[in-house]
Amino acid sequence: MPSVFIKTYGCQMNERDSEAVAAQLVAKGYALAPNEASADVVLLNTCSVRDFAEQKAIGKMENLIGISRKNRPDQILGFMGCMAQSRGQALIDKLPDVDLVIGTQKFHRTAEYLDDLLAGRRDKIVATEAEAGSQGAIKEHLLAGSAGKGAVTAFVSIMQGCNQHCTFCIVPSTRGAERSRTIPDIVAECRELVGRGVKEITLLGQIVTSFGKRDYPLVEGRSAFVQLLDAVHDIEGLERVRFTSPHPKGYGDDLVEAYGRLPKLVESAHIPVQSGSDRILKIMHRGYTRERFLGILQKLRAVRPDIGLTTDIIVGFPGETEEDFQLTMSLADEARFDNAYVFKYSPRKDTPAAAMPDQIPDEVIEERHARLLTRINEIGAQRYERFVGQQVEVLVEGPSKKNEARMMGRTRCGKIVLFDGDDRHRAQVMRLNIVRCGASFTLYGDPVIHLD
Ligand code: 5AD
Repeated sequence: MPSVFIKTYGCQMNERDSEAVAAQLVAKGYALAPNEASADVVLLNTCSVRDFAEQKAIGKMENLIGISRKNRPDQILGFMGCMAQSRGQALIDKLPDVDLVIGTQKFHRTAEYLDDLLAGRRDKIVATEAEAGSQGAIKEHLLAGSAGKGAVTAFVSIMQGCNQHCTFCIVPSTRGAERSRTIPDIVAECRELVGRGVKEITLLGQIVTSFGKRDYPLVEGRSAFVQLLDAVHDIEGLERVRFTSPHPKGYGDDLVEAYGRLPKLVESAHIPVQSGSDRILKIMHRGYTRERFLGILQKLRAVRPDIGLTTDIIVGFPGETEEDFQLTMSLADEARFDNAYVFKYSPRKDTPAAAMPDQIPDEVIEERHARLLTRINEIGAQRYERFVGQQVEVLVEGPSKKNEARMMGRTRCGKIVLFDGDDRHRAQVMRLNIVRCGASFTLYGDPVIHLD
């Protein structure tokens, strides 16, 4: 039985793709190797969103080649995912020891490719063509929870690709145009997961709020995405629904209203803003203004006052002035995010922004990045501390990864809480009193004792 090790870089979509490929390989008779050294096949599932992510995967492959070609000359080495899609054959030209390059629409063919390579029927494979229907091929789950128990949470991929064409972003070329799965297909997958003990499902896509736009007409003013939320929400035994990532333009009244109507839809939203300057937002091709964005946060907080809001911000987009940057700083102050991922602008191949004049020098980007991150962390710490003394609801996922003696649960707004518990608490929805906020944004709680 040949064994495979998959290492994943990048976003939750990549994690999900790796899990599905692993599950598909297991179904075809492959084993999952515990580490790279013992594996017959090593696949790196790659990210292209910033140059750093690509360099990390290339460095890793060089490293693997160095070890593998000495000790394991027959080990198969491959790239898959976004960088595989965008670079294709060029990866083998650069690293001739690489055997396999699997693009983002060919994940489900991985077993076929490996069968051919292992049997010596083919020498090298580069598979990056588009394939109709591939958005429906990421369905299988391993559900490997911790301590040998099944997982409590699962990710479900609902669509692939992106039509937004933000001027900084490589994703439309790595993931292709938007293609959605059908609502019945997604609901069937979710139902099966719940049947296997899953309590929380996160719906995944590059822009989930654009789900099914061309396939499903509005019904009573509800978009296809809200129709999908309604359908998933109806599944008996499911406790919580999350999704990531939405686009601000997807927050119509139907979605805001869904938060009021659907109790399983948790108080949590990751809404990428990218910049606080209308001038920059326009050049980025984001399709909203600062005011519109802040208005969305206000509406969500009106429906769910405890909502945990997080975002993505890029600093140093071409032409960003100190004045533009100050508008991002003041947006952070006004929005009061629980957390934000602050990224340094990275020019990407064939994107309009890479060819724009006024690229910002690295030292300016570094300095703005540090200033914004400090502000984001200060606000984030205040947002955490507010939980101390409060009662929260957590879904218990299993033992804490850092300290196995403690159990770990997540609040509805996505915060990690540790408490003294044991395996009988696993997969339970519990109420905890938050007693303190520790380092690295971890909350500590005590179970609420009911005296009735
Ligand atoms: N440079 C820096 N950050 C980027 N992102 C996307 N493209 C780039 C780029 N070229 C960020 C955006 C996006 C997140 C996933 O990555 O903030 O929301």
